[in-house]
Amino acid sequence: MYLILLQKPIMKFYLMQFLIFFMFILFSTCTTSTKTKILYTEQELGEALFFDTILSRDSTISCASCHKPQFAFADNVAFSKGVYNQKTDRNTPSAMNMANRNSYFLDGRAETLEEQALGPIESKLEMDLPISIIVRRLIKNERYKSAFLSIYGTMPTRNLMAQAIASYEKTLETSNSPFDNYMNGSDTIQFTASAKRGLNIFNNKGKCFDCHFGSDFTGNDKFKNIGLYNAINLNDEGRFKITHNPKDVGAFKIPGLRNIAQTAPYMHNGMFKTLKEVINYYDQPNAFVSNSINRDTLLNKPLNLSPLEKQDLENFLLSLSDKQFFKQALNPN
Ligand code: HEC
Ligand code: HEC
Repeated sequence: MYLILLQKPIMKFYLMQFLIFFMFILFSTCTTSTKTKILYTEQELGEALFFDTILSRDSTISCASCHKPQFAFADNVAFSKGVYNQKTDRNTPSAMNMANRNSYFLDGRAETLEEQALGPIESKLEMDLPISIIVRRLIKNERYKSAFLSIYGTMPTRNLMAQAIASYEKTLETSNSPFDNYMNGSDTIQFTASAKRGLNIFNNKGKCFDCHFGSDFTGNDKFKNIGLYNAINLNDEGRFKITHNPKDVGAFKIPGLRNIAQTAPYMHNGMFKTLKEVINYYDQPNAFVSNSINRDTLLNKPLNLSPLEKQDLENFLLSLSDKQFFKQALNPN
């Protein structure tokens, strides 16, 4: 009976319509569910805020517009776009592996992750929204209001919003890379012979480890000048803007190197597109910037790495990507 009916074109048409309608309902419940999902924990609240454009003046920009999950929470352009298509004045760093830092921003102007989170919201170039307005927006928003009430027992406040965002960011730690698995003895395949030679160059001939030491390679968040300041075309004074100490001119926070394959372009101004370029720079800084001011003495002499040594060093850097990014790390472009 049904089969006979189905053979009639008109019935096929109704059936198709029904199917399309059904799929539409299914699709819309799937896509709205992340926006209406009840927020039970501080981390879930922080995650929702991190991905929500409600934090920007014209509701177009979220934290994730610049800190993109697929690029290890960094951006793939030298300067990201904030509200009204304005460009940031520094390259967007990864927001992963932030839990153990002791200062934030490339010049270290924030001391806690909570304090950091309020920076971009009020920054004219990024989200451009006074915190008092965002707090009012959150109070008016039923979903956020009830989340704050159930998680903290109070209405949304400035500090609790920052606390929730920071608490989500603290979940973005990565330590499941071929390098880690080699160091803890659980992997001997993905950390290749070339990466092993690269590790040795990183620690010795390349002098990388003199600055990039520690579990995230951030050298205790010290500030160093690697020679990317000449007061002419390279004129970001970095740490000096905060301390006004002449020895800090052109110094930036030593960045971590985890998931580095995902976070191109590199440096505070995004001037290097690839890790190969970064390695060529450290090999011969003068070939790129001959008039740098206040450059660290560790970079006084060219490293004179051979092409094979450069490749080994790059393979070591590629091995620092977490499993979730590792395949992409071997094939970054
Ligand atoms: C328009 C792009 C943009 C937006 C939107 C943005 N950021 Fe950033 N973020 C940046 C840039 C650029 C920097 C580096 C600025 C500097 O050092 O002066 C940065 C720095 C950071 C840092 C410090 C990283 C480090 O190594 O010290 C964290 C953490 C961070 N952002 C988290 C957030 C959070 C949370 C939000 C949302 C509330 C957000 N960002 C919104 C571009 C953006
Ligand atoms: C004198 C200390 C110092 C030494 C030595 C050093 N670095 Fe760096 N490194 C830094 C600082 C500081 C920055 C950030 C500079 C900036 O943003 O302008 C940086 C940036 C980087 C970046 C880009 C990070 C990003 O997210 O943009 C990579 C990759 C890197 N270094 C790898 C290396 C390698 C490989 C070596 C060894 C060949 C090395 N570094 C040696 C201090 C150092």
